Amino acid sequence: MPDEWSLDNIEGIGPVTKQKLNEGGIYNVLDLAARNISDVSDILGGDTEKAAELVNKAMTYLVQKGILSKDFVSAAELYKIRKSVERISTGSKNLDELFGGGIETGAITELYGEFGSGKTQICHTLAVIVQFPKDKGGLEGGAIYLDTENTFRPERISEIAENRGLDPLKALNRIIVAKAYNSSHQELLVKEMGKYIESEKIKLVIVDSAVSHYRSDFPGRATLAERQQRLNAFMHQLLRIADMYKVAVVVTNQVQASPDTFFGDPTRPAGGHVVAHMSTYRVYLRKSAKVRIARMVDSPYLPEREAVFIIDEKGVDDPPEEKKKEK
Ligand code: GTP
Ligand code: MG
Repeated sequence: MPDEWSLDNIEGIGPVTKQKLNEGGIYNVLDLAARNISDVSDILGGDTEKAAELVNKAMTYLVQKGILSKDFVSAAELYKIRKSVERISTGSKNLDELFGGGIETGAITELYGEFGSGKTQICHTLAVIVQFPKDKGGLEGGAIYLDTENTFRPERISEIAENRGLDPLKALNRIIVAKAYNSSHQELLVKEMGKYIESEKIKLVIVDSAVSHYRSDFPGRATLAERQQRLNAFMHQLLRIADMYKVAVVVTNQVQASPDTFFGDPTRPAGGHVVAHMSTYRVYLRKSAKVRIARMVDSPYLPEREAVFIIDEKGVDDPPEEKKKEK
């Protein structure tokens, strides 16, 4: 980590404060700016004023360094910035097209669908492909896999890597897996993520699934408000991580059969508005005979359309007919 990002650059951080911040998982200016004030306040023993001051100073420092913009920018400038956004291939040309070229960095992509629709398989495939060089669809980066359902399988990573021409051991070495045992643990893991993102050159953060712990920790209507509030804070944290560290964040979400709605789509994603609002891209997955279908549901600029893919020894792949057509 270059000195440029050292906490020593922020006025008002002496040795004691620095130590406290370190203990709270904040090691540099980016980590500090990525936290919300109430977190930093907890770390500093409840000193909210000091926390607000430090987070603001970190933000100002990042503006000075050109990492964050404080200015209003022209649409043309934004267009230029948008074109420089990096993407990770999904392993399927069809799916990549649906995503406008692959999974975007600096944004949250939500994959939702029923059980067995392929959410976890897409996550496994992305964790391998992100490691490839750019001309092969990757970003030469590592992946963090936050596993809340105990469905991460190193054997599957190994198989996908091997069938895509990547040394399986190397592939496994560049994926950091964290198992979250409940929603609080899941929140803690995300807070501590910054140091790995820097040291392991992480380009992809996966949360599979974002919502399941919140559903079991806050069951029923009585705790719904608290659940949504906690989930909201969690998603905010993820958005900051995507923004600050320019990584792609992918979250999965189960669909929820909602017996209390008689109208509309019975397969609404769990987490309701919260996850939906925070996600830049939302893709609905479903099974259909031998193939799987992905539909871009919400996107700032991509049309709502569908793509067909399959799951095979390479993880996510295009259906065989289409591969033949290309030849
Ligand atoms: P939930 O987490 O239960 O909501 O489902 P999901 O959407 O995460 O489903 P997942 O990605 O686990 O997809 C499961 C499907 O992928 C299975 O039904 C299999 O068809 C396929 N699949 C899973 N593992 C493998 C594998 O190792 N090889 C192949 N070829 N297919 C697999
Ligand atoms: Mg799954």
